[in-house]
Amino acid sequence: MNKIIYLDAAASSLKPESVIKVQQDFLQNHYANAGRGICARSIYVDKTIAQSRKKVAEFIKTNPENIVFTSGTTDGINRIVNIIRGSDGFVGRPKVMVSDLDHHSARMPWEEAVNRGEIRFSLCPLDSEFNIDYSKIEKTDILVITAMSNVLGAPQDVKKIIEHARKLNKNVITIADAAQYVANLPIDVSDWDADFICFSGHKIGADTGVGIMYIKEPARWYPDKFGGGMVAKISGSLDNNDSKWTLESAPMVFEAGTLPITQIVGLPFAIDELQKHNDKQKLIKYLHTELSKIERIKILTKPDSHILTFVVNDMHCMDFGTLMGANGVCLRVGSMCASWIHKILGYNGTIRISVGQRNTMEEMKEVVKIIKKILEK
Ligand SMILES: Cc1ncc(COP(=O)(O)O)c(C=O)c1O
Repeated sequence: MNKIIYLDAAASSLKPESVIKVQQDFLQNHYANAGRGICARSIYVDKTIAQSRKKVAEFIKTNPENIVFTSGTTDGINRIVNIIRGSDGFVGRPKVMVSDLDHHSARMPWEEAVNRGEIRFSLCPLDSEFNIDYSKIEKTDILVITAMSNVLGAPQDVKKIIEHARKLNKNVITIADAAQYVANLPIDVSDWDADFICFSGHKIGADTGVGIMYIKEPARWYPDKFGGGMVAKISGSLDNNDSKWTLESAPMVFEAGTLPITQIVGLPFAIDELQKHNDKQKLIKYLHTELSKIERIKILTKPDSHILTFVVNDMHCMDFGTLMGANGVCLRVGSMCASWIHKILGYNGTIRISVGQRNTMEEMKEVVKIIKKILEK
């Protein structure tokens, strides 16, 4: 088998050597649980996790107290629904506004609450270029913003969208799904001013199983998960089922149970790699130029998008993906867990190329050759 060309970073990115090495060293030489022990190893683990949290906080320009470790974006968004529900945020059946750019993970947890009759639903219109049209946002109580679609790869103006929504309702709760955005563009949380932001470690070079939930005002919200690590003291009559809890402060109060420790150890190294200069957009631009010369290809993304999505005339995306796979190229085909935007685009499935830190121009040239070979047959 020839060398694999991996063009599916938007689904999950390949891991830098530094992440692999530090996690291996941690597992072999430093492993212990976090927040539970008093031995030297436990203290080392606690310190390492605190450093990792600090690194993430610096990465998105906030404070460590605002950073909660989750297992990923999907986990974060489901948890936000539960946090809002548990903090009486669904009283009076508030209106939630989502958009057709949403990944299933960003929208389904809200639709589930709509189906249960807990909240009402509304849709934020897109403009002619499929970006969120903030000028058409109506008054809403909860607003979900996909900061960058995993199909179209264009950054949304999260700051303006939130500003506009707040003009209509100063108490609107705003949630940004930054799963794709964070892999491509820097985030400054004070600029966006969202109440919650979620992203996944595995899309930015960290391991699977670790994600981030930023909470702007942690003290405002009641936790959604209960158990070890989030309670400072249990008192009262312990034998009579009337124990009294003194909960930890943020962020621990949102981190019941054992954290994905090893993945958290690797996360700062992934962030360091991500912040190094790279030519990801140059590679996508090159492919955009070259593939737009192929008659059978219809490109659906803009040249300055962070991913390249297209369809091939008279060829099912699954067939194209299979042929590319047979030639050693891994890319994503299908609805990409983003059914709503596919409906609007008028396709059941599309083909997506996304690049990571490790991809090279030589690989792009090879991919163009392979695509030409497949489509010219
Ligand atoms: C925009 C967007 N949101 C949410 C998700 C879900 O992320 P995860 O599967 O890591 O929870 C993805 C994954 O592809 C995504 O692209």
